[in-house]
Order: sequence, then C-alpha cells, then structure tokens
Amino acid sequence: MRFSAFLVIFLTFWFLILFYWFPPAKPTSFQDDQEDNPSLNPAQSRCKESVYVYELPDKFNLGLLRDCQHLNVYTNMCPHVANYGLGQPLPKMGSTSWFGTHQYTAEMIFHARAENHPCRTWDPLKANLFYVPFYGGLHCSSKFREPNHAVRDALTFELSEFILQQPWWQRNNGMDHFLVLGRTAWDFMRTEGGVDFGANKLLLLPPIKNMSVLTVERNPWVGSNQHGIPYASYFHPSTVGEMLAWQKSMREIERPYLFSFIGAPRTGVEKAAIRDEIIKQCDKSTRCLLVKCGHGASKCHLPSEVLKVMASSHFCLQPAGDMFTRRSTFDSILAGCIPVFFSPHTAYSQYAWYLPADPNAYSVFIDGEGDVGKRIEDHLVKIPIDKIERMRRTIIDLIPSLTYMHPNSTGYGFQDAVDVGLASLAKHVKSKLPLAKGSY
Ligand SMILES: *[C@@H]1O[C@H](CO)[C@@H](O)[C@H](O)[C@H]1NC(C)=O
Ligand SMILES: *[C@@H]1O[C@H](CO)[C@@H](O)[C@H](O)[C@H]1NC(C)=O
Repeated sequence: MRFSAFLVIFLTFWFLILFYWFPPAKPTSFQDDQEDNPSLNPAQSRCKESVYVYELPDKFNLGLLRDCQHLNVYTNMCPHVANYGLGQPLPKMGSTSWFGTHQYTAEMIFHARAENHPCRTWDPLKANLFYVPFYGGLHCSSKFREPNHAVRDALTFELSEFILQQPWWQRNNGMDHFLVLGRTAWDFMRTEGGVDFGANKLLLLPPIKNMSVLTVERNPWVGSNQHGIPYASYFHPSTVGEMLAWQKSMREIERPYLFSFIGAPRTGVEKAAIRDEIIKQCDKSTRCLLVKCGHGASKCHLPSEVLKVMASSHFCLQPAGDMFTRRSTFDSILAGCIPVFFSPHTAYSQYAWYLPADPNAYSVFIDGEGDVGKRIEDHLVKIPIDKIERMRRTIIDLIPSLTYMHPNSTGYGFQDAVDVGLASLAKHVKSKLPLAKGSY
C-alpha cells in the first residue's frame, strides 16, 4: 500500500517535471510548423497575409444560432444557417456544390472559410490581420423590432468592450482588425432623429471605426473603412474542375432572350421607383423575360429557376430595391448574364476589390434619372454583338473570385471571394500602416 502510494507520488512528480520541460504539442503547433515550412502546404507559401481568427465567446457568433428561429424577424433562419451558412443542398442542380444560400449569410460562410484558410495563423505575433468573427448581421436582424435601443445595442457594446481588452488591439489601435457583415452597412448605422428601421449603432462605435469592415453593401458616402464583398450566391464548389465546367457551360449556353428581370415592384422607395417602369417595359417586350416576385410561392425564390432565367438572357436588369445592392447581381454574373445597373451604388461604388475599374468592361449603365422614359430595349439592341461577347467573357472570368468556395475545400485551384477579400484587405492595411509593428 505504502509503496504504491509512493509510486503514485513519484510518477506524478516526474510527470510534472517532464510536462514542464517538454510541454505537449498544442493543436496549433502543427499549423505553425506548416507556416515555417511552406513546402508542406504550397498554398500557404503564396500567402502575403497572415490572419489571426479571434476565439470570441460564442454569444457573438455560433451561440446566436441556437435561437435560429428568431434570427430574422421575417423568416425562420434555421434552414439557412445550416452547413456553415450555405443553407440546404440543391441536389436537383446535379452536384453537391449547390445550396439554396440565403442572401444574408456571407458572414457565416466567410468565418467557416477563414477557419480553414491556409493563410490562417494561430500565432498573433505573426499575424498582420485580426479577424473578429461576430455574426453582426444575424444578430441585427433578430433585433429589428426591439423598441428599446439599449437592449437592441447591448451585444454590440459588449463586442466593442471585448476587443478593446485584447492585447493585440493596442499594437495598431485596431487598424489591423476587421469584421465581416452579411448585411448592409445601413443596418449598423442608426442615427438619432432619423427614421428607425431597426438598425443598431455598431459601425458608429469608436473602436469599430478604427477597424476595417467587410460588408455586402457599404455606405458610399461615409463608409471609408467599409469594403464591399460579394453576396453569396448558390454555387460553392470544392474543386477547380467543377468551376471550369460551370464556366464552360455558361459560355456555351444559348440565350434566347435579350434581357430579363426578376424582382418585385417597390412602393414608397424612391431609389426603386424605376422598377415600375422596368416591369412595364419588360412585360411589353417579346425580347424580355419577366419573373415577377410576390408574396408566397414564386419561381423567383427557386435558385434553379432564377439561374435558368438568367442563363437564357444576355442582359439582367439590376435596379435598386430597398437597398442599392442586390444579391441578384451575383446570381446574374454566375449565370453569365451581363448586369444592367441604374444606380452607380449597386456595384461601382461597392466592390472595388472584385470588379474591373472600367464599368463598361462588364456592365451596362442606364441612368435611372435621365433615361427612365427611354426604352431599355432600344438601348440594349444597339450594343454590338462582339461587345456583348467581350463583356460576357469578362463576367464569366469573374465568377471564381465572386464565389464562396465550399468551406471544407482546401484545394486552391482558384482565388475565391474570401481569398480576394483577405489579400486586398492585407494590402489596404499595409498601406495605412506603413510603419506598423507586426509582420508586414
Ligand atoms: C483609434 O485610432 C486612433 C489613432 O489612429 C487612436 O488615437 C484611438 O485611440 C483609437 N481608438 C480606439 C478606440 O482604440
Ligand atoms: C465538412 O467537414 C465537416 C467536419 O470536418 C464534416 O462534418 C462535414 O460533413 C463536411 N461537409 C462536406 C459537405 O463535406
């Protein structure tokens, strides 16, 4: 008895000694080795950025999903937040890379991709970007109808306090930190005295103003720290082969319609007034395919129908709605359909990291104010066929960088929306912090 007790103490003692001399490899050390030895992961050697992903208390992200019935006051988000925010699979599309992705879940997909990203580092000392993975969009839409502003804003204040306490914040006053939001910036910029449509004040909090904010729609007037990222569409391939095959089919498909419009009229939204005109003109023209969205079941909510309509048209009309931007813009590019914009803020002032600097290279602009009376069809038929083909080639070449690859994928055959976002952000932060401490 006494001997075995001695043995236990003796062994414990040696165990502790050994433990402190040779601590067991943390799960992170494998990644660190990879980082120091790029040959283990060729994709990593291409990384100019090194992203540290904060482990936030789960009330800021995954914990919110436990109450997924109440994440959006208009709809049950449970099916949409499944599969890292990709939503429900669409087996009818013929492969496992298609999902009925909700328009406001890009923040979740970005998070899942970042966690699995070859440019991720577990060592903050090596990081030049710090990602704060707050599901701000989902949280915001769960509180749209909360009349008490203190209650509506509470979690955003807690987030702000949390990041201020992080030692890595101090290094560059948060200038190398960023958020990703799957909703538009307007939802986080409530001004007192304005119309209260449910927004909180996240983007107006002083620490957040020091950060970069990646969002599906930036405020083009005051959002100098806001950067547009694509809305997530329905295609989330894992391999470059699938991507190439899709691009090829969109190049070759026959497009019997000159133009199409999928959408609903809007009443009382000034920037959407042109929708009535568009619906009228499209309805009258034999060369336009109109899919009117309304309440209840409608083709316009079925991804396969949406893509079918867009893939059978040369041009897809993209008027502003409640917001300047539309997820539909990204669906249309995915279908090789050239977008027609009526406001510069639907794309040109939004997605500088992703779209060519010359709008004429990939889109048509019809001045929503001046040309409303003019017939859209007259405008589009005048575009020479070789110009149409050139624009279509350009947008089909853009598809990979506007796509959110499947988060499980580590095959880096192409640069997807997250790759482009991280690389562009690293460049941007570097330009703002030329003398910063850190590995630049
Ligand atoms: C934001 O950055 C400025 C310097 O650019 C700094 O003076 C300020 O303290 C920072 N704010 C916060 C909340 O860290
Ligand atoms: C992705 O990976 C997770 C965890 O490794 C796994 O549970 C899931 O089934 C995978 N999903 C797909 C579509 O491969």
